[in-house]
Amino acid sequence: MKRDIENIEDIRLLIDGFYEKVKLDEIIFPFFKEMSEEKWAKHLDIMYSFWNNAIFLTGNYTGYPMETHRRISAVMPMQRQHFERWIQLFTMTADELFKGKNTEALKQTAISISALMQTKITKKHENPE
Ligand code: HEM
Repeated sequence: MKRDIENIEDIRLLIDGFYEKVKLDEIIFPFFKEMSEEKWAKHLDIMYSFWNNAIFLTGNYTGYPMETHRRISAVMPMQRQHFERWIQLFTMTADELFKGKNTEALKQTAISISALMQTKITKKHENPE
């Protein structure tokens, strides 16, 4: 029986599972291919905080993800197919591991943020300052 996401340990399981898929994915992995081991470790820690904050409102994430993605996308454009694939991998990982209210909330949050990110980034490509 699958259970719901209940704490930071569960968030870690989810994020680690997600990046196992990302590392094998031809569509998403290219964005991460220059990252050193040290950068990976840092990135994972940031992702644990981000999702812990998003689901359990811990207030421990203080970054600017929109800015980060806009910067990356200026070098390697993030397009609709990338966002679609990201959400597919993220949702697949969540559903493989967990089931419940928090899991549904997490997937919905990912979809909303992704849509917002895509709008902001795509606009920027069409209308560069
Ligand atoms: C096109 C889809 C996406 C790609 C290719 C992508 C890729 C990346 C990359 C390469 C980084 C920077 C890693 C580093 O250099 O440390 C990053 C950071 C991050 N991503 Fe994404 N991402 C995508 C979508 C998303 C979505 C939809 C979310 C949230 C729902 C998200 C959340 C984050 C967060 C929280 C960070 C860390 C930002 C910070 O430094 O504070 N990403 N992403």
